[in-house]
Amino acid sequence: MKTKHVVDLADLSHEELLDIIRLANDIRLHPADYSDTCRGKILATLFYEPSTRTQMSFKTAMLRLGGSIIGFDNPQNSSVSKGESLKDTITVVGGYADIIAIRHPLEGTAAAAAMYSASPVINAGDGGHLHPTQTLTDVVTLYNEMGGLENLTIGLCGDLKNGRTVHSLIKTMSTFKGNRFVLISTPELTVPQYIKDIINSSDCGYVEVPSLSEAMPMLDVLYMTRIQRERFASEEEYRRQNGVFVLDKEKLRGAKKTMRILHPLPRVDEIDVEVDYDERAKYFIQTVYGMYGRMALMIRMLESGNRRTAARVMPTHPIRCCNPKCITASEKYLPAVFREAGGDMLLCRYCDGRTLV
Ligand code: CP
Repeated sequence: MKTKHVVDLADLSHEELLDIIRLANDIRLHPADYSDTCRGKILATLFYEPSTRTQMSFKTAMLRLGGSIIGFDNPQNSSVSKGESLKDTITVVGGYADIIAIRHPLEGTAAAAAMYSASPVINAGDGGHLHPTQTLTDVVTLYNEMGGLENLTIGLCGDLKNGRTVHSLIKTMSTFKGNRFVLISTPELTVPQYIKDIINSSDCGYVEVPSLSEAMPMLDVLYMTRIQRERFASEEEYRRQNGVFVLDKEKLRGAKKTMRILHPLPRVDEIDVEVDYDERAKYFIQTVYGMYGRMALMIRMLESGNRRTAARVMPTHPIRCCNPKCITASEKYLPAVFREAGGDMLLCRYCDGRTLV
């Protein structure tokens, strides 16, 4: 693999991504062949935010490959609680572990961690921004369940504004030919403009639809998501949005027999439990595909030999990112780094947020 870190799945070429999917399938079919592949390697899981699947599947993946694990799942039990900066934590852990998976509530944290880590960093979710290994999970699932990653009509339903899995999935699937996105949300929870811009600049297209029933007959894939309570400013605002879209057996009557239902999980109440027994429901097998995807990703990252390089810090821009959820808002030592976004607009290199010059 060319890239040292995986902050965004777009860091991988199509060839690299397809290679990882095929490797994941080979591990699934022949697990014994891989049980010593990472013998002597150490994975650190730094989870500043709760997780069941991502954290446990990373740990299980490394253990199944013969390696070992360290880390924390509650920053209050680490020196973060004493005020240690992200930079210092990463610098230290990068000296202990061969590879790091980090989850953090602030957007752009994985990109910031990658700047200071001697070891490869994997983004295990950064606020409402990106979740590339969930997308890897999703594409391994789609590859196996849909027979490929092209010419699919994919409905995404729920919290499209705050759902980082949605942003990551659209970014990746819009790089494959002939895909079309049906965006199903309330007006308050539509996808951010930068994601729409990504679709518009690809060969793919999108439509926005206010109702699940209206969208259902068009879909090859329905990607349900929960309303992300932890990203709302108030409980009242969350309650206004929760329960608007619920998938049940009745709504499924309008769907193709071949449609597949995915969900990154955890589910709250957006999919009725009775749907679990419909053969189109693939969200539990999806979690298993995810473990094999993470095994394959770590194998490729560790074998590529481009790790243990010194931190490379960039010069700072005089303007700071205006996204209050960006990691640069709280870790003030981070240099401000932007990409040009046309006109007077700059895109933050960490969180992809837009800042007016
Ligand atoms: N899909 C996902 O990220 O689940 P967890 O939050 O449980 O890791």
